[in-house]
Amino acid sequence: MKKLFFLIPFTFFFLILPAQKFDQLAKTPPMGWNSWNKYGCNIRESLIMGMADAMVTSGMKDAGFEFIVIDDCWQVSRDENGEIVADKERFPNGIKALADYIHSKGLKFGIYSCAGTKTCAGRPGALGHEYQDARTYAKWGVDYLKEDWCNTSSQDAKSSYTNMRDALYAAGRPIVFSLCEWGSNKPWEWAGPIGNLWRTTGDISDSWNSMINIFSQQKDLAKYAGPGHWNDPDMLEVGNGRMTTEEYKTHFTLWCMLAAPLMAGNDLQNMTPENKAILTNKEIIELDQDTLGRQATCYRDNGDYQIWIKPLGGNEKAVCLLNKSDEKKTVLVDFALLSQVSSGRRSGSTSLKLEDYRVRDLWDHKDLTLKEPAIYIDLIPHSVKVFRFIKK
Ligand code: GLA
Repeated sequence: MKKLFFLIPFTFFFLILPAQKFDQLAKTPPMGWNSWNKYGCNIRESLIMGMADAMVTSGMKDAGFEFIVIDDCWQVSRDENGEIVADKERFPNGIKALADYIHSKGLKFGIYSCAGTKTCAGRPGALGHEYQDARTYAKWGVDYLKEDWCNTSSQDAKSSYTNMRDALYAAGRPIVFSLCEWGSNKPWEWAGPIGNLWRTTGDISDSWNSMINIFSQQKDLAKYAGPGHWNDPDMLEVGNGRMTTEEYKTHFTLWCMLAAPLMAGNDLQNMTPENKAILTNKEIIELDQDTLGRQATCYRDNGDYQIWIKPLGGNEKAVCLLNKSDEKKTVLVDFALLSQVSSGRRSGSTSLKLEDYRVRDLWDHKDLTLKEPAIYIDLIPHSVKVFRFIKK
C-alpha cells in the first residue's frame, strides 16, 4: 500500500506532462524580419545587429515588428559532441552574444534549422540532434525557430516536426515554432497542435507573379488559421526592388487580410519612404493583428477582380477589393450590401447595419463620405482598396 502511494505522484507527474507545444505563443501572427529574402547566405553579425538597430529607429518596432530571425547559413558543422557550431568568421562573438544584443533592443531573436540531415544550403540539419539543439537554442536565448524541410528523404513530416516540438518543450524555453514544409504534406490539417505557423507553399520571390500566385493558393485555408496557429504564405518581399510600390502595397495588404505572419525581408537600414510607409501602416497592420485571428475569405471572385472579407473583433470587418489585372477597373461598390454580407459561420463575419458604422479607407487614412451607399471606385492595375467598417 505504501508503495502505491509512493507511485501516485510519479504517475500524476507523467500524466500532466504530455509533450505539447507552448501555450500562449503567437496569439496574433508573428511579426519580424528574416535575413533570407534579401541576403541569402550572405549574413554576418554586424549586418544582423544593424537590422536590429534599424528595426527600432525606422519605427518598425513601434509598428509591432519584434523578431529578428537569422535564416540558413549561420551554422557550419558539429563538434565532437555533436553540438552545432556557428560560423566563427561571420559570427565572431557567437550566437548568444547576438541574441543578447537583440534582446537589449527590446526585440526577440529567431534562428533557422532543418528537419533533415542538412539544411537547404547544405549546412548541418537537426535530424538526430533535436533535443541537443533545442537545449542549445534555449541556452542561447532563442525565441523563434524556423525549421525547414530539405534533405528529409523518407522522413514523415508530422512525426519529424512533432519530435522537434517535444524537444523544444523539454528544453523549457517558450520558442515560437515555425514549420517550413512548403505545404507538401498539407500541414494545415495536422500542424495546429505542433507549431505556431506553417508554410503553405513553395518559396516566394520578389515578383508580382510569384506573390499573387502564392496568394491565390490561400483561398481554401482560412478555416485552419487562428490564434496560436497560422497559415504562412511565406515572408514579405516589400522593399526588395522588383515590384512597383503599388504592388508592394497590394502584397502587404493581402498578407494582412490573410492574418499571415509578417516577416519583412528587406534592408531595413535603407528603406525608401514609400516602403517604410507600407511596412509601418498601422491601420493595415491592425487587420493582421486583430485578436479574433480570422483569415479573410473570398466573397466574390470575378477572376481578375475579387472581394475579400476579414471579420474583426468588436463586430467590425475589413473589405479588400483586388484588381489582379493589367488594366484599370472601375467597379460599383455597394457598401450597404457589403455591410450585410455574412461570409459564413466558418469565417465568423456577421451582418452589420451600415448606419451604425463609418467606412474607413486604410491607405488614404480617411473615412468615406457616402452620399449614397453604392459608389464607383477606380482600381489601377495590380492594386487594392481596403476599407474597414468601424463602429460609430
Ligand atoms: C528553403 C526555405 C526558405 C529559406 C531557404 C534557406 O528554401 O523555404 O525560406 O529558408 O530554404 O536555404
